Amino acid sequence: MQFDIATPTLSEEGARRLEWAGRRMPVLASLRERFRQEKPLEGRTVAACLHVTAETANLMLALRDAGARPALCASNPLSTQDDIAAALVAEGIPVFAVRGEDSDTYYGHIHSVLDLEPDITMDDGADLATILHTTRTELNPVGSTEETTTGVIRLRAMAEDGTLRVPVVAVNDSQTKHLFDNRYGTGQSAMDGIIRASNVLIAGSNVVVVGYGDCGRGVADRARGLGAHVIVVEVDAVRAISAVMDGHRVLTADDAAEIGHIFITVTGNKHVLRRRHFERMRNGAILANAGHFDIELELTALEEMAGPSRPIRANLDEYVMPDGRRILIAAEGRLVNLGAAEGHPADVMDLSFSNQALAAEWLVQNEGALEPQIYTLPAELDAEVARIKLEALGFGLEKLTDDQVSYLSGWQEGTA
Ligand code: ADE
Repeated sequence: MQFDIATPTLSEEGARRLEWAGRRMPVLASLRERFRQEKPLEGRTVAACLHVTAETANLMLALRDAGARPALCASNPLSTQDDIAAALVAEGIPVFAVRGEDSDTYYGHIHSVLDLEPDITMDDGADLATILHTTRTELNPVGSTEETTTGVIRLRAMAEDGTLRVPVVAVNDSQTKHLFDNRYGTGQSAMDGIIRASNVLIAGSNVVVVGYGDCGRGVADRARGLGAHVIVVEVDAVRAISAVMDGHRVLTADDAAEIGHIFITVTGNKHVLRRRHFERMRNGAILANAGHFDIELELTALEEMAGPSRPIRANLDEYVMPDGRRILIAAEGRLVNLGAAEGHPADVMDLSFSNQALAAEWLVQNEGALEPQIYTLPAELDAEVARIKLEALGFGLEKLTDDQVSYLSGWQEGTA
């Protein structure tokens, strides 16, 4: 078996963390039980380009239970947990991922999983799909899945310009994915990353959240829960007013730059904090990115202004401006929740990765009948994921009476 990982000797530590995460993934566990009976992916090769974490490792084991041959590479050069990579290799699953790998190695690893000629590909950010549609055009998988908002936006652009040649399930579009992972997962893990990188007190600080989608809203909620004064920067008026009614201040980036102590970008767009904002920032401002790509902070401009940085703590680099102000960057401007912490907790990845596993099964079930388009998983599967989670958490779900069902489908009953 081929693989490329940093430290095979970390496999036992990785196996323990993998087991711990698995215990908090009851929906995936119930799918695994069914998969072991039904083997819906028998003989299929699945090439996954996902963050190499304990939660992803549980997904890989679920795919293997389903009869698949999974292989894994990283979807971000800084998010790989080397102990987990080692644990998966010890399980006989090919992994090509090394924390901190350079760009050539990162893309080389994507090629390595594609060399296995996958039937299904899984992406988080659409880097693998991009290679599939540019340099590896000899490959023809049955279909692909995409985990994240950024990846879905890229794939929709490919569908629109006619480039897309495989059906894609936008896992992000399942309600049981984006309403939970994006909000509660990003909210908690982004704050976790900033705290681990800096150990600063959040209470009483001005936390600027740039972007108020599901992820930004989650980050703002959690920052407020820790006692921050939250300031939101938005370009969309509806989202901005929603932030106002959630109780946050909404300012332009220029105005927020002057008062923020901590800045978190969660937009999916490039250079949302740039030279003009760095010029205005207070001494000691801490900047972190929780969006998928490391383009939200214009670090090249910061480097031009301040010269090279120096690491002041693990995952925290300090730039000194010509006027003496210090600006600190967490996790090199890459996804702070995975670069400086462990990513979203297993409890929420349970929902996301159950959707991934179901998406792979759905693509195989519908092989030959799908167009090169972006699909969302059927609503019944979404509801099933939610139902199993609710049951596992020990909560009850109320049922409609027959009378209520008929009331909802009729129009005759109005004002009494
Ligand atoms: N994305 C965010 N958190 C993650 C995690 N724990 N595992 C895999 N992908 C993630």
